[in-house]
Amino acid sequence: MRHLMSPLDLTVEELDNLLTLANDIEHHPEKYADACKGKKLATCFYEPSTRTRLSFESAMLNLGGSVLGFSSADSSSAAKGESVSDTIRVISCYADICAIRHPKEGAALVASLKSSIPVINAGDGGHQHPTQTLTDLLTIYSLKGGLGNLTIGLCGDLKFGRTVHSLIHALIRYPNVRFVLISPEELKIPDYIREDVLKKNDVPFTELERLEDAMSDLDILYMTRVQKERFFNEEDYVRMKDYYILTKDKLTLAKEDMMILHPLPRVNEISVEVDDDPRAVYFQQARYGVYVRMALILTLLKWR
Ligand code: CP
Repeated sequence: MRHLMSPLDLTVEELDNLLTLANDIEHHPEKYADACKGKKLATCFYEPSTRTRLSFESAMLNLGGSVLGFSSADSSSAAKGESVSDTIRVISCYADICAIRHPKEGAALVASLKSSIPVINAGDGGHQHPTQTLTDLLTIYSLKGGLGNLTIGLCGDLKFGRTVHSLIHALIRYPNVRFVLISPEELKIPDYIREDVLKKNDVPFTELERLEDAMSDLDILYMTRVQKERFFNEEDYVRMKDYYILTKDKLTLAKEDMMILHPLPRVNEISVEVDDDPRAVYFQQARYGVYVRMALILTLLKWR
């Protein structure tokens, strides 16, 4: 049995197979309509979510399976003090596979150690969000035709943005990938990513503060929201929240085929006027999240 805690839990070959399967699902959904008949997915979300939880549920329903779960800690027995370890042992009696989101880093890993069903990390604090990364990779693979030879700008809250951490981990395994890390000083990428992931693997990267200084070099601009829920005080959040706002004017500096991704939810960091630009693919990206989660559910259930 396999779990998914980080994109690195999958080899490059396994990841390629998963993306190929997701691509086939996108083009031939009818082939998979009963693939999980009789199977149940539990979504255990201790933190708010729209895309991740509902795309997991949509994915399982598209596969002919069923879903159960909870969407906040308050509506589960966590409110009475039940541990994640105990909860997953119980969920293992009710479902065949589980996606868990939790505000604490490592919570999904703790669950996986006590689980008798595959556990998928659907986001653990400011640490990792591997299924968002699968979504991002499928979007890039489908719309750019591959995952190598890219200059990727990651902009915004690189400190707390778990989607950024997971995406860097995944993309360094592809050839000729270069990162431009665009953030204010206070929201720079954590040291462990800079030292243990980027430098250790000789991955080229630069760190900048002004988005305009990076724009013309980028093949992909990955915008992120300032993660309000991870700040210790409101004052710091308010000071940082509108640090970057991508506007039509700024986009005049970008390549004609640069792709704008965002894991969403968006707050102010992309002006709505950008939504009609053909380079803005963040709503398409959300759709790819369903296909890749269908592929993941199928794959983990097959490996069980
Ligand atoms: N991208 C993402 O994780 O969105 P949700 O928080 O809505 O699940």
